[in-house]
Amino acid sequence: MEINGETILTGVFGYPVKHSLSPVFQNAAFRFYGLNWVYIPFEVGPENLKTAIDCIRIFSIKGVNITIPHKRETVKYLDFCDEEVKVLQVCNTIVNENGVLKGYTTDGPGFLRSLKEDGKFAPENKVVFLFGAGGSAYAIAGALVRSGISEIFICNRTEEKAKMMKEHLSGHFGFENIEVVPFEKRNDSSIWKKIDLVVNTTSVGMRYDDIMLVDPENLRQDIFVYDIVYNRETALVFYAKKKKLRFLDGCSMLIFQGAISFTLWTGLEAPIEAMKKAIDAFKIKRP
Ligand SMILES: NC(=O)c1ccc[n+]([C@@H]2O[C@H](COP(=O)([O-])OP(=O)(O)OC[C@H]3O[C@@H](n4cnc5c(N)ncnc54)[C@H](OP(=O)(O)O)[C@@H]3O)[C@@H](O)[C@H]2O)c1
Repeated sequence: MEINGETILTGVFGYPVKHSLSPVFQNAAFRFYGLNWVYIPFEVGPENLKTAIDCIRIFSIKGVNITIPHKRETVKYLDFCDEEVKVLQVCNTIVNENGVLKGYTTDGPGFLRSLKEDGKFAPENKVVFLFGAGGSAYAIAGALVRSGISEIFICNRTEEKAKMMKEHLSGHFGFENIEVVPFEKRNDSSIWKKIDLVVNTTSVGMRYDDIMLVDPENLRQDIFVYDIVYNRETALVFYAKKKKLRFLDGCSMLIFQGAISFTLWTGLEAPIEAMKKAIDAFKIKRP
């Protein structure tokens, strides 16, 4: 890649950000098209977020991704928010259109595309068990409800947050088939008999010694397992692979949410296969 006076800048704002895989696959996508664009990780501490967002205009940065911990705080500095950002109050993609900063969130649509295209799983009329009630859980639950699931069970370590998420989903989507499962009752087998899809949106699995939140006894052979953690092969993914269940890990969602950002910035279809190939070497397998 040759950087010159015409090079267009993009990147990711996060804290920490050095571990991010986005530069790997976004730069691969630019290379695929021979674009004179570059994607850089910017470590932005919380106290500098506003200044960093001002710099998008000052340095004519075409677009950035926003990651932990800035997804919520960023919303108040945008000039325009798309519908999904207004509903969820989180932003993971900014597009700079001649100084006007437009905010999008691609996590929900990225998850859904990954589930359908990589997982070949059709969510319509399915029953879902979702672990977590953090930022990604809202995006994913919202996308699943929009896609026509019939029922969702939400289970979070802090039950109050799961209850708030239930209220949010029924308030915004008019969807009532939501049950909050207390964390200590998460392995109640009467619930698991109905489940078609289990999604882990918690950070459990990011550390090597993290356990599975679901009891393997509850994972029938026809359940689809989706763990959005992407920094390593989690115990849940390892188990699903061993038992030959249908499953996806977080790298699939990571690519698709990034692919939507790529298209928002460049107007081009994202080269999914080239992006996947670029991160393959970085996946940490369990020994
Ligand atoms: N693949 C992708 O493209 C993608 C995109 C976004 C995020 N992610 C991944 O998704 C994970 C969550 O991200 P987020 O943005 O949603 O984070 P977040 O908003 O901070 O939410 C974290 C969630 O994890 C739960 N949690 C944390 N530690 C736990 C533990 N020891 N036991 C049980 N639950 C625990 C929290 O429960 P409490 O409410 O009780 O604290 C909360 O529900 C991270 O691993 C992130 O890297 C992946």
